Amino acid sequence: MAIAKPVFAGNWKMNKGPGEAARFATEFCERVQPDADSTVILFPPAISLLATRNALADRCDIQVGAQNVHWEAEGAFTGETSVDMVVDAGATFTLVGHSERRHLFGETIAETVRKVRAVLDAGISAVLCVGESLDDRRSGRANDTVESQLSPVLAELAELPDERLLIAYEPVWAIGTGETASPADAARMHGFIRGLLSRASDAMRAQEIRILYGGSVKPDNAAQLLSQSDVDGLLVGGASLDAESFSRICESA
Ligand code: PGA
Repeated sequence: MAIAKPVFAGNWKMNKGPGEAARFATEFCERVQPDADSTVILFPPAISLLATRNALADRCDIQVGAQNVHWEAEGAFTGETSVDMVVDAGATFTLVGHSERRHLFGETIAETVRKVRAVLDAGISAVLCVGESLDDRRSGRANDTVESQLSPVLAELAELPDERLLIAYEPVWAIGTGETASPADAARMHGFIRGLLSRASDAMRAQEIRILYGGSVKPDNAAQLLSQSDVDGLLVGGASLDAESFSRICESA
């Protein structure tokens, strides 16, 4: 781990409407005691943000975040949600460029740049997701792909916004497949990402940017992944849908 306070983020994807989300939040608060030494973020679907925040009540140690936003503040964009709207619903984070957004919905690198800019300009935090496909990895292009996703965002930000930009390294072949990057592979890629951050800023500021690992994180592999250098937290999909398993992951630090 590079920094003392790990981040545990649960990406619910298209699961849990407002009622179910609120029930999860209530059960989760009972299981996980407030811990000043870690940050927990729940990413419900946009429609469930407010219900989740309300059910968490005064547990300010648990943040809520949006899975996606549009970069415009308002207007004729049917089906989209702006940053101000998710902030109004209690979000303090948003994911940007999750691989499902990129691969299933055709989100481009240029769009992720605009989204990160809009999120940071609104004063909340962005978790930029990057990661290579299986083809990229097999053909030795994993680093190039990650660099091509990250560098345009760093170029857009004249100054790195320290802790309000987070990076999630999620190898596409590990998402929802039950396969994880080996701890050594995760550490190697996190080190590579840290190097890109240092090049865009300076080494000290680059250390402040948290780099999360995601892709088939489970209660039984969380601690080992988290113990790798430059792994500052975990982004969890499937295993965050169950309060018991996500609470075990949050206690793995
Ligand atoms: P997974 O998803 O944990 O189910 O692999 C991770 C993610 O997509 O963020």
